Amino acid sequence: MKILVTGGAGYIGSHTVVELLNAGHEVVVLDNFSNSNESVLNSMEQITQKSFSFIRGDVQDKDLLKKIFEQEQIEAVIHFAGFKAVGESVLNPLKYYENNLFSTICLLEVMNLFHVKKLVFSSSATVYGNPSKLPIFEDSSLSTTNPYGTTKLMIEQILRDMVVADATWSIVLLRYFNPIGAHESGLIGENPNGIPNNLMPYIVKVANQELPQLQVFGNDYDTKDGTGVRDYIHVVDLALGHVAAIDYVKRYQGVEAINLGTGHGYSVLDLVHSFESVNHISIPYQIVPRRPGDIASCYADVTKAQKLLNWKAQKDINMMCKDAYHYLEVQKKQNH
Ligand code: NAD
Ligand code: UD1
Repeated sequence: MKILVTGGAGYIGSHTVVELLNAGHEVVVLDNFSNSNESVLNSMEQITQKSFSFIRGDVQDKDLLKKIFEQEQIEAVIHFAGFKAVGESVLNPLKYYENNLFSTICLLEVMNLFHVKKLVFSSSATVYGNPSKLPIFEDSSLSTTNPYGTTKLMIEQILRDMVVADATWSIVLLRYFNPIGAHESGLIGENPNGIPNNLMPYIVKVANQELPQLQVFGNDYDTKDGTGVRDYIHVVDLALGHVAAIDYVKRYQGVEAINLGTGHGYSVLDLVHSFESVNHISIPYQIVPRRPGDIASCYADVTKAQKLLNWKAQKDINMMCKDAYHYLEVQKKQNH
């Protein structure tokens, strides 16, 4: 199939483009590099030895979208483009509502115009808020605690409304748990600018001695060792989940929300210790107070993904830690 991938130069998008190309799909990437870098395009071609079309531009530019749909025979869309920093969304909510909502609305209008009605959307486990029961099933109650999460929930609702209005749409809402790791080649991965908010990028910066030590946000949660528990998923497994979702939208109509996680919860200290042991490196850490807004535990029930998508995460926590560090080493070599 020919697939338009918005935000395809980003962390999850780039890994997904690689797996789509590996699976034999044709890919058109649209990205404005607001949170990514041009160099990733070469890396994707280097990994796959395949080429794809790239358009630099904004999903909010409807004329550009129309041109793309006119020129390319797009059959389905994977919509990654959007802003994702929770803290920034609290400080600057309009930036998030504008980019995340408006770009989705523009995209849907143009898809409608060109009768392209197959869509895979990047949602997030953040739509479950503070879960009252674990594991989290797709029909668990939904709520949000910050504008970023609210944009995801609002977009899910918009997409459900699209299907009510026109039953020929086929939409999958993929609710990602905590994607970490990198492609095994070390050529693509996650490298946020500045001080990272999320755990794995922070650990990697400590490993690289860019930051002196990890701050562990609380060890008094009701979990096995008191630190927060999350469902970390290797980004390549996540990317393969998108390939499976594309197969699904090809065959079925309607809208489905599907969790993409491993179904296993690991604590902050589990992740630190795995990272230390697979990479033979020490990660100094200090326990500090809880981060406001954090929840104790969050992990997915993954039977729906297995049933509908015939997909299951394959890579374990050690591979996630190994590939995250390998990416750093490869980047360091390339920059020398
Ligand atoms: P990312 O920031 O690395 O990738 C997003 C890409 O979209 C970037 O390349 C950016 O330049 C581009 N972009 C943003 N706004 C754009 C616009 N208006 N027009 C064109 N391009 C635009 O983020 P990611 O981690 O790859 O996440 C991808 C999607 O998955 C996002 O929607 C995010 O909210 C969602 N998600 C991410 C996580 C996570 O932990 N990384 C978890 C759950 C959901
Ligand atoms: C983050 C996002 C959430 C998103 C999810 C999946 C925030 C506030 N929330 O949540 O919206 O859906 O990723 O990508 O960014 N931790 C530390 N020290 C650190 C960083 C984190 O101890 O320096 C702990 C946290 O308290 C948590 C765990 O590590 O227990 C994971 O944190 P993080 O990687 O930020 O992910 P989430 O909190 O799950």
